[in-house]
Amino acid sequence: MKILITGITGQLGTALAESLQDNHEITGLCKDSSSSTHPTVKADLSDWKTVYDAITRINPDVVIHTAAQSNVDACEKDPEYAYRINALGTRNIAIACQRFDAVMVHISTDYVFSGDNAPQGGYTEFDATAPASVYGKSKLQGEEFVRSLLSRYFIVRTSWLFGRTRANFVSQIVSALNEGSPYTAVDDMYSAPTLVTDLADGIAHLITTPLYGTYHLTNTGFSSRYEIAQAIAVQLGVPHTVIRKASLKDLRLPAPRPLFSGLRNYVWELNNFKPLRSWQDAVSEFIEGK
Ligand SMILES: NC(=O)c1ccc[n+]([C@@H]2O[C@H](COP(=O)([O-])OP(=O)(O)OC[C@H]3O[C@@H](n4cnc5c(N)ncnc54)[C@H](OP(=O)(O)O)[C@@H]3O)[C@@H](O)[C@H]2O)c1
Repeated sequence: MKILITGITGQLGTALAESLQDNHEITGLCKDSSSSTHPTVKADLSDWKTVYDAITRINPDVVIHTAAQSNVDACEKDPEYAYRINALGTRNIAIACQRFDAVMVHISTDYVFSGDNAPQGGYTEFDATAPASVYGKSKLQGEEFVRSLLSRYFIVRTSWLFGRTRANFVSQIVSALNEGSPYTAVDDMYSAPTLVTDLADGIAHLITTPLYGTYHLTNTGFSSRYEIAQAIAVQLGVPHTVIRKASLKDLRLPAPRPLFSGLRNYVWELNNFKPLRSWQDAVSEFIEGK
């Protein structure tokens, strides 16, 4: 298939290109001139005409839309930009998919949930959304555009991504502990850390099916950042004492975050798809550099 990946230079976009390149023809859509090793077209998500023309030229079978303003605090500080990119930018992709009858995969987030009264075992795709942050609200609006404009789509909500493309909470913990620096980690906020290569392989499977709709897709198990840091310390052979506990409110971050936003991969389970491995195995492989 011809697959267009928006955000091909990002954490997930890079992993998707790697996972899909052997069996599909990959093109990336980038904001700036790209460092990607794949062919790319240049378009800013907010410029609907350039996005439309780019998708017209490529005429893809599938568009995987990973590009976003994914910085939660930056969204809180600049809501207009967040809505322009995450909500209207997603609409712009969906309009082009509608015109050219391409399947759209839209990547969304656990932050569409409030964290209040979370069900035992995590939020399912059938639970009510109630985002607290501008980031969560703007991503949810993006979902709504996809649902209202398209019939052939996958909305894939995921959480706490980590990979090798850019610094993230797992790579920061590993670097700090390797340097012998203390690391402060929040112990009252829970979700599922998810390795982008595992998520990419899951999406590669999903697009071979016609089972459209909304999916939660994460590595298995929930944890706090503090528990993740402890697991990393054990694997690196570093004493636990270098990890300091903090509560979310101690950090005084601009954007509110759900204290529990674990996603149960319920529709994935109901389809009898193979669950992604545990977050512990994913983190362990990441540290080993495989
Ligand atoms: N990171 C997480 O923990 C997390 C958790 C849940 C869900 N998600 C969702 O998962 C998706 C992938 O996240 P990620 O961590 O891979 O993101 P990322 O590493 O921040 O990459 C974002 C990509 O989007 C591109 N982009 C940003 N603004 C753009 C614009 N105006 N026009 C065109 N391209 C633009 C970036 O290009 P430049 O580098 O050129 O700016 C980059 O390639 C996002 O939709 C995010 O909301 C992320």
